[in-house]
Amino acid sequence: MDLKAITKTARDTIKKYNRDHSQIIAILQDIQGVYNYLPKEALSVISEEMDVPLSRVYEIATFYNSFSLKPRGKHMIEICAGTACHVQGAANILDRFERELGIKRGETTQDGLFTLEEVRCLGCCSLAAVVRLDGNIYPFVKQDDIPRILKKYKKQEVK
Ligand code: FES
Repeated sequence: MDLKAITKTARDTIKKYNRDHSQIIAILQDIQGVYNYLPKEALSVISEEMDVPLSRVYEIATFYNSFSLKPRGKHMIEICAGTACHVQGAANILDRFERELGIKRGETTQDGLFTLEEVRCLGCCSLAAVVRLDGNIYPFVKQDDIPRILKKYKKQEVK
């Protein structure tokens, strides 16, 4: 990762929001929009340039689930582990994704394509078991659907 580029992105974003302390969340969102996660160098720049303790910047970045401090893959897979999905076999679905991708929950594949996360209720329990991939909801997912779902996203990459 190019540190100079990260520093520049962070500085430009801070400037865009006029160093406004009430806009720290928006600044973090913009930076994550560029890198798909929050590089620690960017958090240091925010702290220095805006004169906010680094611990406070981390506190905000870790409070919201939508922020990630770890590099994330191009495609985000979220397995719902809420009650309704749990009853419909969410644990087996997660297990199958882990085996197909060769990673554990919270990890990213080596090729940087997929990140696997377990989340609490996605708000569409009547469609359980539910998987969300890049924001798209897959309803009534069964273990055997998983290779087909992944194939679709892998195929996009070879085009
Ligand atoms: S429990 Fe899975 S969507 Fe609600």
